[in-house]
Formats: sequence, structure tokens, C-alpha cells
Amino acid sequence: MGAKVRRYADIEALSRAAAEDFVALANEAIAARGVFHVALAGGSTPKKLFDLLAARGKSALAWDKITLWWGDERAVPPDHPDSNYGMAKKHLIDPLGLDPARIHRIKGELDPKQAAAEYLAEVTAGLGSPPVGLDLVLLGMGPDGHTLSLFPNTAALDSDAWVVANELLPTNLPGKCWRVTMTVDAVEFARHVRFTAAGADKAKSLREVLEGARDPRTYPSQLINGPDVQWLVDEAAAKELSQ
Ligand code: 6PG
Repeated sequence: MGAKVRRYADIEALSRAAAEDFVALANEAIAARGVFHVALAGGSTPKKLFDLLAARGKSALAWDKITLWWGDERAVPPDHPDSNYGMAKKHLIDPLGLDPARIHRIKGELDPKQAAAEYLAEVTAGLGSPPVGLDLVLLGMGPDGHTLSLFPNTAALDSDAWVVANELLPTNLPGKCWRVTMTVDAVEFARHVRFTAAGADKAKSLREVLEGARDPRTYPSQLINGPDVQWLVDEAAAKELSQ
């Protein structure tokens, strides 16, 4: 895997470290290029990180030079409790009063393929094709080893597009549902990738992803590569790692 693994006592310590990374990478990008493009992760793990960034206050970072993207989104409206944008809006965007013009959400309320096409156009226009403008991609990992909405054995694993609609299988989640996601190929061009994973339910997959046999269709997080991929994990998630 070649990724760096950083272990923390618990999710609070992990989130503090992730916030420090976010601030440092943002300041580095803004000093070098005048802008910081970051793709946020969904799910629940980033909530504490977002709360910590919000608690620092708007003056703590040049938020007027930071542009928000998303690595993936569920096929739900922005006010739905499952919306990744909605979670960031509650924990980061609204508390800091961020400029909507610098926020590129995936329109989960649309037909997934239309949402993917519209987001692909925004990514291409704003980050390039390939999206070399991405400074940081924040990722989580599910208990099954998925990341973004790249779930085991789904079609998106084979896509060479930068953004794609992905139909999840009943083996991924109950019922059938759709997601819109950046692909492995898109993330590979990011300058920095930070996974955050916490909790005992991630321990088996984390061991398989980082130390197990190469099996990316089963553990899609193994597919994420790039110049600077780092995992920030708590001890509960790391308990099955050999080192
Ligand atoms: C999503 C995320 C997904 C998430 C993992 C971990 O849309 O759900 O992008 O990849 O990061 O499922 O989720 P938790 O942080 O809730 O464990």
C-alpha cells in the first residue's frame, strides 16, 4: 500500500490531528497557488473534524480562498439526513458562513447519471481533466473496506471517468440504491489524501486493506494511491494491525 499510518488514542485525538493537517495543507496551497481545493468525505467520521474547523472561527483560515468539493454523495436531496453535503452544511458551512460560490455540491436530488454528468463538468472546469487541481481529498472507509462510494464489486471500480454514478448492490447495502462518486483515477491526481478511520468495526477491513493480500474488488480502499496518502486511525480501528 505504501501509505503512511498514523495512530491516535481515539476519534477526538484523530480529529484534532486531521484538523491540523487540513489547516497546514490549506495554508501551504494558498501560499503556493492562492487557492485550496479540498474534496470532503461523507459519512459520520468527519463530523468531529468539521466541528473543530468551525470552532476555530472563520478568521483562522483564508476561507475566501478555499473551495469545497465532495468525494461522493448519496442520491438524496441536500436536506435529507443522509446527505453528505447536508452533514457538511450543518457542521462546517453554516457555522462558518462560507460563500456558496466556493461550494460545489453533488446534486443528489437529480437522476444519478445527470448529477454525475453535471458534477463531472464542474470538476473538469474547476480542477482540470485530470483533476490535478485537487489539493486534498478527505476519505473515510466503511466496515466493508469501501471508500468514497466505491463499494465492493460495483461497476464504478472499473470506470475511467473522473466522476460516475454507481449502483450499489444488495450485498453492499440493503435494497438497491445509487451514489455519485469520484473514482480512483480522479483521486490519484490529488496532491494529498487523508483517510480517517475510527472504531472497532473498521479493524478487520483496515488490516485487510493495509496488510492483507491485494484484493481491491473486495477492499476498494486498496485502490487509492497517490503521492501522499496517509491514514489517520484510532487504536480501536488499528487493533488488528501487525505494527
Ligand atoms: C459515504 C462516504 C463513505 C464513508 C464511509 C465511512 O458517502 O458514506 O463517502 O465512503 O466515508 O462509509 O463512513 P463513516 O465515517 O460513517 O464510518
